[in-house]
Amino acid sequence: MLFERPHLLGLEGLSAEELTFLLDTAESFKEVSEREIKKVPALRGRTVVNLFYEPSTRTRTSFEIAAKRLSADTVNLNVQASSTSKGETLSDTARNLAAMRPDAIVVRHPSSGAPDLLARHVDCPIINGGDGSHEHPTQALLDLLTIREHKGQIGGLTVAIVGDLLHSRVARSNLHGLRTLGARVRFVGPPTLVSPFFADLGAELVHDLHEGVRDADVIMMLRIQRERMTGRYFSSLDEYSRLYCLSADAVAKAKRDVIILHPGPMNRGVEISSTVADGPYSVIMDQVTNGVAVRMATLYVLVGRRRSETGDSLGPGAEGGDGSAPLQRAATGE
Ligand code: CP
Repeated sequence: MLFERPHLLGLEGLSAEELTFLLDTAESFKEVSEREIKKVPALRGRTVVNLFYEPSTRTRTSFEIAAKRLSADTVNLNVQASSTSKGETLSDTARNLAAMRPDAIVVRHPSSGAPDLLARHVDCPIINGGDGSHEHPTQALLDLLTIREHKGQIGGLTVAIVGDLLHSRVARSNLHGLRTLGARVRFVGPPTLVSPFFADLGAELVHDLHEGVRDADVIMMLRIQRERMTGRYFSSLDEYSRLYCLSADAVAKAKRDVIILHPGPMNRGVEISSTVADGPYSVIMDQVTNGVAVRMATLYVLVGRRRSETGDSLGPGAEGGDGSAPLQRAATGE
């Protein structure tokens, strides 16, 4: 097994080998979702808790689907109806959940660093489902998988990430993953939303949309995150979309075989035109499909490994050799 970490808190610091292992594992799980009976027994008897303190459509649903396709039981904590509303702290909530012995907790939280805090308080794998403006590792993994599927490799590609970079956990995770795998990354947006700090992390900074997407192999569009904005970063949404909305004209500046990604939720007409979002270069729905495989891989790698460490009976999900044989068994259900 080439991924020995207890948690998945971010992509920062992961090696190319670890990233490639997670992507290869996700690829091996894709086939399960194409079957008539979309289930393998890899995590039978395991429990996955989804703890989401922010709204989510894709991440929460795909983690639940992924856990169920691995035969794990899932619990979705309704934060609004939980004791959080009575003043319970995140670490106390986590300790109490941990006392019920889940096998993994997926957490989304508006505060950067919340999953790291949880990881210090509980004795099961923590998976970051997006924390503040910090990281969203499984989103970046599904983006990397989608890019690799369409382009054959990631090394050597030019990837333009456009929009509200300042508040984007998706952009930060992608920057770490893409750079580690050898891509060139451009951050494109108004100076108020593209901090010079990103240059220290290896991004090229460009403020003109057409210049930023020129000759790009991949364009990733980001939503304006009004819920995280504390000041005025542009004079109006109209002005923003006039300068940064991805139109067919802008796409024409990129490579002829460019692919267009968006993590969702999309604001059509603000950062991306419908013509582009639904057009021939868009791989946005492929991203969503790959989200299930990436989350199956993440759960399998973090939870399935504990199964063998804790001495449970071996079988699908058990570890052995270089890890490829059990992956094969888990994916096929043999
Ligand atoms: N991309 C993403 O995180 O979407 P959700 O907010 O719907 O989970």
